[in-house]
Formats: sequence, C-alpha cells, structure tokens
Amino acid sequence: MEKTTPRAPRIDGHTLLAGVIGWPVAHSRSPLMHNFWLEKCGVNGAYVPLPVRPGQFETAVRGLQAAGFRGVNVTIPHKESAYGIVDRLDRSAERSGSVNTLVFADDGRIEGYSTDGDGFVANVEAHGIPVHGGCALLLGAGGAARAIAASLLDRGVKVIIANRTRARAEALAASLAGITVIDWARAGEVLAECTLLVNTTSIGMEGAGNAAFPLDLGQADRALVVCDIVYVPRQTALLVQAQAHGLRCVDGLGMLIHQAGLGFRKWFGVTAPIGPDVEALLDADLHASRTG
Ligand code: ATR
Repeated sequence: MEKTTPRAPRIDGHTLLAGVIGWPVAHSRSPLMHNFWLEKCGVNGAYVPLPVRPGQFETAVRGLQAAGFRGVNVTIPHKESAYGIVDRLDRSAERSGSVNTLVFADDGRIEGYSTDGDGFVANVEAHGIPVHGGCALLLGAGGAARAIAASLLDRGVKVIIANRTRARAEALAASLAGITVIDWARAGEVLAECTLLVNTTSIGMEGAGNAAFPLDLGQADRALVVCDIVYVPRQTALLVQAQAHGLRCVDGLGMLIHQAGLGFRKWFGVTAPIGPDVEALLDADLHASRTG
C-alpha cells in the first residue's frame, strides 16, 4: 500500500476548524483520522485535540463557537454536559440519550448528534452485511449499547439485551420501545434465533480482566454475524472464538472510523473517504501505542 506521510496543514483565514473536547484527550485517535481525511480530500481544514477540564465545558464550547469553529466531538467526561447545551437535538441524540457530535450551525444554534449507533450500522454494512430485520443480541447496557440498540430498532431489527446488571438493561428497555431483556446468564439460550451478536461490554478489552461471556458460539446459527465494539485488541477473544466456529466477524475499529466519518461530513461538507488506508493508519497507531 502506498505510504502517506501526513504533512502540516496550511492554516489561513479560510481554514475550517473542528476538534475533540475531552479530559484527558491526548489518547484520542480522532485528530489522526480527521486530519488524514482533510489532507486526502484537499479540504482546507484542521481538527485539533481540545483538553477541557471538568466544569469548563460550556465556557469552552461557547468560545469555540464564537471563534468560528464548525463544531466538535465530545468525549469523556463531557457527554452529559453536551446533551444539556444543545439547542437542537437530532433524533439520533434523542434516541440514544447522548451527544458525541456538536455542530455550530450558521444560525447560531448548537446541534447535537449521536453518531455511535449509525456508525456501528454503517460499519457492519461496509462489510457487505445488510442491517435490516432479523434479531440482534446485545451484550451490555451502557451508553454504547443504547446508541446501537436505537439504530438497530430503527432498521427493523429485533433487539434482545443481556447485561450483568439486569436492572440497567431494564432501564434501557424502558427508554427505548421494542427491546426484550433477558438474564445475563441465559444469553446463550436466544443465540440460535439471532442474526447479530454485539458485544458492547468492556469484556475482552486490554487491561479489563478476563471475564467470560455467558454463551457458547457453538449454539449459534451458521449465519450469525459476531460484532465487537472493543478495538484494543482488534482480535478480541470473542472474535477469535467466532472465527473458529466459521462465523462472520466485524471488529470494533470500523465503528470508530464510521462514526467519525459522520461528523466529518457535517463539519467539512465532504464525505469522508473511508477505506483501508485510514484503517491501516489507525492500526499502526494503536500498535505503536501498545508496544511503545
Ligand atoms: P459504555 O458507555 O462505553 O457502553 P459503560 O456505561 O461503562 O460503557 O458500560 C459498560 C458495560 O460493560 C456495562 O453493560 C457493564 O455491565 P454492568 O452494567 O453490569 O456494569 C459491562 N461490563 C463491564 N465489565 C463487565 C464484566 N466483567 N462482566 C460483564 N459485564 C461487564
């Protein structure tokens, strides 16, 4: 593959600006992706990490808006504050109960979107797997699970959720109509009727211990597609097991890329050129930070 060396962007009075607000934010891969795409598309833009302390979120956002930024991504610990600051909540944000993308609209309003669920679906579809109908078993009931559940329900997918803490899954089901909750320990029992299995828990993530899933992929239908949103490591134990059973797999890196692509389009007005090059770039960066 052709090697692309990122160059410093030309910054002038026409440069379109966006960034990611978080604390800490130095680990974020978003600047790497967005600046790669900006250069690849020849867009005069820049995307910067914005370390903003807890309590300073609103001051920072109003300042960035006043300074002409197009918008920002929002990550931990500011997601709740982001939800509260928007003037217009997109349906994606309403349904997922969270905001990870702010757009500073021309009329002065702040628009809030959640791109996680649609990023997840776009990634699965980019693997040639249509997301429409069928049944998904989601493991976990945190913020990522809610965003993914909302996007799947919108596409007519039946959603079953199993979470270690059942009450949390019940609370999620109460906020999004159409979800069935089952006990964590009984997740394996519905596997045979599912077309999609999605791990949204931190099980399998580097450094997160070695808890096990309450299911045996040997019980799955041959057509089951196994997705993990964990991307460090990319080949999680769940995906390795799925491959051993001959099941199709979708790893978590693509969701990260596709959710970023949705913000890129909103701020810079250009479709993100998602392809193997950005995936290789992220892969190399993640590898370097694990071994370096
Ligand atoms: P996010 O917002 O990224 O989804 P989160 O809100 O911290 O993250 O949710 C993490 C999910 O991983 C939860 O569903 C959590 O289960 P609980 O609600 O019971 O805490 C799940 N999780 C984390 N560690 C787990 C483990 N060892 N076994 C089972 N589930 C686990």
